[in-house]
Amino acid sequence: MEIRPITLDDARTVHALHEEGFPEAKWSYEGVFDLLALGTTFGWGAFSKGTCVGFIVAQVVREEAEILTFLVQEKIRGTGLGQRLYDTIETFLKNRQVLEIFLEVAKDNSVACKFYSKNGFLKISYRKGYYSKSGISAGDAISMKKKTS
Ligand SMILES: CC(C)(COP(=O)(O)OP(=O)(O)OC[C@H]1O[C@@H](n2cnc3c(N)ncnc32)[C@H](O)[C@@H]1OP(=O)(O)O)[C@@H](O)C(=O)NCCC(=O)NCCS
Repeated sequence: MEIRPITLDDARTVHALHEEGFPEAKWSYEGVFDLLALGTTFGWGAFSKGTCVGFIVAQVVREEAEILTFLVQEKIRGTGLGQRLYDTIETFLKNRQVLEIFLEVAKDNSVACKFYSKNGFLKISYRKGYYSKSGISAGDAISMKKKTS
């Protein structure tokens, strides 16, 4: 397995994994391609024989970053890959002088909440109905933040 930056050539396999892991989000292939093509987004993927089995994508605006999407293929969760992907992007963001990392996580996603707490993220606010706004199943989100230094 190889962890490396995601390129536009990976958009198909990244989209396929996104559909598998977040079917309710209904992100189109074009949407994933356009997101990866932005000059402000940076993604890392884990690839096994050319197939994406995990990814993390962040958007950077000056000294702030937001984790936009983060997923590990279900059958290999809990084996440390998520941590490796997160550590890779955090190192990249620190090297770009990012001072704060933000994210939203569904309130009832206890695994991801535990992951982020373990990695030093603190809750900053609740966003009621956050996911219903973007067409995903209705649900509240927790906004979290981490200072990188
Ligand atoms: C969140 C996610 C990316 C973590 O990836 P992963 O490869 O399974 O995580 P790791 O194996 O690296 O585990 C790292 C830490 O996460 C937490 N964690 C992982 N799996 C867990 C589980 N089943 N129960 C509780 N905590 C868990 C633990 O704190 C773990 O550290 P530990 O093993 O020292 O206790 C993965 O669970 C996933 O894809 N979830 C579905 C998509 C999702 O929720 N994405 C985040 C949206 S904001």
